[in-house]
Amino acid sequence: MESLLPPGAAALLRQARRVVVFTGAGISAESGVPTFRDDLTGLWARFDAEQLATPEAFHADPELVWGWYEWRRARVRRARPNPGHLATAAIERLVPGSVVVTQNVDDLHERAGSTAPIHLHGSLFAPRCVAEPAHPAAFPDAEAVSRDVRAAQPAAVADGDEAADPGEGGRIPPPRCGRCGALVRPGVVWFGETLPEAALTAAAEAAAACDVLLIVGTSGVVYPAAEIPRIAARAGATVIQVNPEPTPLDGLCAVNLRGSAARVLPALVESAWGSAEAAGAPHPAVS
Ligand code: APR
Repeated sequence: MESLLPPGAAALLRQARRVVVFTGAGISAESGVPTFRDDLTGLWARFDAEQLATPEAFHADPELVWGWYEWRRARVRRARPNPGHLATAAIERLVPGSVVVTQNVDDLHERAGSTAPIHLHGSLFAPRCVAEPAHPAAFPDAEAVSRDVRAAQPAAVADGDEAADPGEGGRIPPPRCGRCGALVRPGVVWFGETLPEAALTAAAEAAAACDVLLIVGTSGVVYPAAEIPRIAARAGATVIQVNPEPTPLDGLCAVNLRGSAARVLPALVESAWGSAEAAGAPHPAVS
């Protein structure tokens, strides 16, 4: 793999004092996490993402939407971080001023050892109150919410068993906010919603301040997230992209590494720092 890397890419990374790793669905693809458009199989094949991922859909049928998100959460829980996530966490350890900015709603960066990745599109594991979006702690933590809901449901549905189609696409009643009694909703950004302002600001600031921005596994067509690498480029950072396919961001990049995140990122880290450990030796949290 090393021979596939242009020598300059590793040197750029090694010399950087602040790196932003900007990730999309491609980095989780090799962990078996489908994009949300592809996560409509089995029970859910009859729906469009647009039917389920909107505030209007939740308002009209909260049990249906919560059921879909519970199913997706169960699938993510079964997935494991891959060498791409581990290499990303290694970059954070090796370059202390680094930040991970992700469009993904899974928790694979966290489980690979990344510290506080910025979730531009929210998280499957941070449900919040519909009435008090600013007070996400008014109900039990995400794991507890999921556990309680699973306990109240037929196990096969909660585990995402497609054979257990109850005929309505796996409806699950959402929990209620412990403070005000309103429904708890998935903490992700839906169609028609704005991105969380604090996350967007933090991501833009990190991009403006970095030396190197690594784009990994994103089609780069969804805005405002796709603005993040542009901010870095405008501020003078070197942009490197890892993706098996060309994207609209190719022209922004000093180096385009055509390959999968799970292969290219560890090779890049190893080439930059010369150690197999740096390339992503399993983090204890991954066992
Ligand atoms: N390694 C690296 N990149 C990969 C891999 C891989 N193994 N497999 C696929 N890719 C690339 C694809 O070539 C594509 O460019 O990952 C990209 C995935 O693109 P999208 O599915 O559009 O995902 P993303 O860019 O994260 O989408 C952004 O749009 O769907 C909404 O809100 C959702 O957060 C998501 C946003």
